[in-house]
Amino acid sequence: MSITVVVVGATGNVGREILNILFDRKFPVKNIAAVASRKSLGKEVSYGDKNIRVEDIESFDFRQWQIALFAIGSNATQKYAPIAAKSGCLVIDNSSFYRYDPLVPLIVPEVNAQEISNCNNKGIIANPNCSTAQMVVALKPLHVRAKIKRVVVSTYQSVSGAGKEAMDELWLQTKGIFVPGQEVSPRVFTKQIAFNVIPHIDKFLSDGQTKEEWKMAAETKKILDPSIKVTATCVRVPVFVGHAEAINIEFEKFLDEDEARKILRKSPGILVVDKKEDGGYISPTECVGDYATFISRIRQDATLESGLNIWCVSDNLRKGAALNAVQIAELYLEKIEELKRK
Ligand SMILES: NC(=O)c1ccc[n+]([C@@H]2O[C@H](COP(=O)([O-])OP(=O)(O)OC[C@H]3O[C@@H](n4cnc5c(N)ncnc54)[C@H](OP(=O)(O)O)[C@@H]3O)[C@@H](O)[C@H]2O)c1
Repeated sequence: MSITVVVVGATGNVGREILNILFDRKFPVKNIAAVASRKSLGKEVSYGDKNIRVEDIESFDFRQWQIALFAIGSNATQKYAPIAAKSGCLVIDNSSFYRYDPLVPLIVPEVNAQEISNCNNKGIIANPNCSTAQMVVALKPLHVRAKIKRVVVSTYQSVSGAGKEAMDELWLQTKGIFVPGQEVSPRVFTKQIAFNVIPHIDKFLSDGQTKEEWKMAAETKKILDPSIKVTATCVRVPVFVGHAEAINIEFEKFLDEDEARKILRKSPGILVVDKKEDGGYISPTECVGDYATFISRIRQDATLESGLNIWCVSDNLRKGAALNAVQIAELYLEKIEELKRK
């Protein structure tokens, strides 16, 4: 079976990666379209060895298309996703706009693939935040074994998580620091990002946490288990691609680090690299272009009756966005094929 696919936001960081991954995973594409804002009309994006001309979302007719993978901001999603869904085109959305809507499934296929059965509620499926996606992949198998009570996470998030303009800001600011007269003031970020770290992602909420920190808790509850308590500190670091997370996990049942390592080694989407020696762990630059969520530094937290610390690294443009969206499309295809067989 092959299927017609639109990539919305095809000129952006996530959109371009969606096109690469659809091709790379041999997603059965019958026809493919690339859509972005009017300013990109006529630009070309690559899909395998082909170039596709970008179309303007304003005049795009979704009626001929079966799946739309959206990778645009929340405001534009709010406007265009319902148009696509009403045209009978299943929307898989990367923005945060629909994630907390109780009628919209929020899916990480390694964790809650069964939620695909709710895809017709609104004709929209949400993709989680990049930092949540990799964390729940790591938490799920440990939760099944020992029931997680509480998670304390600190993130080290790359600038690509804030879009292509944020990557330009890091690049130009880093170069400009060494060239008198070419200094670049912060514009996308609130403070200098070159040679710095910024403990602030998304807007501040009334209780002092940021929306990004709130999202990690709310999305973990929706995807994995509402009883899990999550407290997060989200930090932007001067890395182009790849998010890292230091995760402290408290369990209800006892789980030792050797068993946790064995469980994680067997779990879908995870690669354990944990040698307890110089360089025997994964850092963000090593995960770029990979599909896996890498787990390193697995160790007991001796301050808890049952607790572990882990280091979790993944390509935020892949598992954190494009790969997860394509995996959802693959799940949807399986569902259609299953229905046909019945
Ligand atoms: N980057 C990540 O790690 C990540 C992870 C999870 C989720 N997300 C979410 O994914 C979405 C895309 O992020 P990104 O990092 O790819 O951003 P990006 O690099 O800034 O790209 C934004 C894309 O949206 C398009 N766009 C902007 N305004 C539009 C409009 N009014 N109508 C149609 N298209 C419009 C842009 O087209 P033009 O080039 O024509 O302006 C571009 O293709 C965001 O909602 C983001 O929050 C990102």
